Amino acid sequence: MEVAQLKIEIAKRMPKQRYEHVLRVTETAKRLAEKYRLPVIKAEQAALFHDIAKFMDKADLHHVLNTANEDSRLLSFHHELWHAPVGAIIARDEFGISDADTLNAIRYHTTGRATMSPLEKLIYVSDMIEPGRSFPGVDELRVKAEENLDTAMEACIYQSVQFLVNKRVPVFPDSIDCYNQLIRREQ
Ligand SMILES: [Fe+2]
Ligand SMILES: [Fe+2]
Repeated sequence: MEVAQLKIEIAKRMPKQRYEHVLRVTETAKRLAEKYRLPVIKAEQAALFHDIAKFMDKADLHHVLNTANEDSRLLSFHHELWHAPVGAIIARDEFGISDADTLNAIRYHTTGRATMSPLEKLIYVSDMIEPGRSFPGVDELRVKAEENLDTAMEACIYQSVQFLVNKRVPVFPDSIDCYNQLIRREQ
């Protein structure tokens, strides 16, 4: 599907504000892909699809996950996490995206995981630092994103895990694994 047509399909599935976020993530991902010599087309596709399931009904998300071959632990965690794997399923089954790295970049954009590919890191980081984001510390993340993708990813997962711990809510094991793996790499 042409990018212009894909954008129309994506815009139909979410409010304008979220669609604008998706476009900002896409521009950020394309720019960083060029910078880090990653495939720009894959970065663009993964970014465009990453939140495609964000506004599905909770019951529908649950149903898709329940019938798909996805990590069943997700169902006992907050439903905010569900749109990422369901987005990968939609990209594959409704739009014919077959590239495993692109699908994994969509699938892990919310939790991260241990041993993420460069494309997975790129999408995770782009989602967090796109120009519309404004949370304490985002400017430091933006600086890191221009320096090195691994240290940017480490700073992003640290920020995410810390945010959840401060809220006293559970942290999905993939995020802890991601944090542990990146923090060990430093020592
Ligand atoms: Fe998301
Ligand atoms: Fe997003």
